[in-house]
Amino acid sequence: MSGALIDGEAIGLRIRERTAAAVATLAQAHGAVPALAVVLVGDDPASQIYVRAKVKNTQEAGMRSHAHRLAADAPEAAVIALVAQLSADPEIDGILVQLPLPEHIDEARVLAALDPAKDVDGLTALSAGRLLLGKAGLRPCTPTGCVILAQSVTRDLTGAHCVVIGRSILVGKPAALLFLEQNCTVTIAHSRTRDLAALCRSADILVPAVGRPEMVRGDWVKPGATVIDVGINRVPAPELGPGAGKTRVVGDVAFAEAREVAGAITPVPRGVGPMTRACLMRNTLLAACARRGWETPGGLEG
Ligand code: GUN
Repeated sequence: MSGALIDGEAIGLRIRERTAAAVATLAQAHGAVPALAVVLVGDDPASQIYVRAKVKNTQEAGMRSHAHRLAADAPEAAVIALVAQLSADPEIDGILVQLPLPEHIDEARVLAALDPAKDVDGLTALSAGRLLLGKAGLRPCTPTGCVILAQSVTRDLTGAHCVVIGRSILVGKPAALLFLEQNCTVTIAHSRTRDLAALCRSADILVPAVGRPEMVRGDWVKPGATVIDVGINRVPAPELGPGAGKTRVVGDVAFAEAREVAGAITPVPRGVGPMTRACLMRNTLLAACARRGWETPGGLEG
């Protein structure tokens, strides 16, 4: 029997619809709507697709969207100046700097210019520190989405062994802390971990976030486990017919094999990806409420 499919598109849509309803109510009450600024530096094709989707979702939720696109060779000072300007702009509630930035730009210096009150990606030192300390704050979107997807399978994650593969600041580290917050026993695995396959086989919840196509094989998965695949990898797809450049998107998990063993599993695409955008919409609303002194609407949970 194959594992259940976790529908990130449907779960994400529900969060976006609830966010949109709350935005409409707040617009009636206050005559204003939240605004999200997205900063994209360079022309990485995947980042361009992500940013377009974020802009579209923001508008669909009834919020204002401001996309700032800078050339790949934009000086670091120009990016920092833009982020500082958006931070100071009272009309902007949320700022997202799409990562990765071009190599000549220091990510940490750019994030240091971002007002933590507008940090809808949860990436500033203050947001990360609040997460570590267990204090309320804006949480990173992709890891939050992973927890919501795992909870869609098992509401109470208490005591589950969660293995996160990857230690990035965008996903691995915050995901580990968010699963810990849900009373999971958490292991962070990475490229130097010994016998990764055996470790993964001990996971009730497996969260690969490494960017290596189909690295996690079926026999790495504990029977009945929940698999949340964060990977989005473009690979050659000769099976799509002749001609160069045909590609398809796969996760970090060999999906068909893993599904045979798992209790539940996210597909790629339509798994974690839509949850990142849904949580971004919700964070933008939450940031706007906190900044503007509006009462935070209830019922935003998935
Ligand atoms: N690049 C890939 N995913 C993300 C994300 O969630 N946030 C940002 N800022 N950049 C990304």
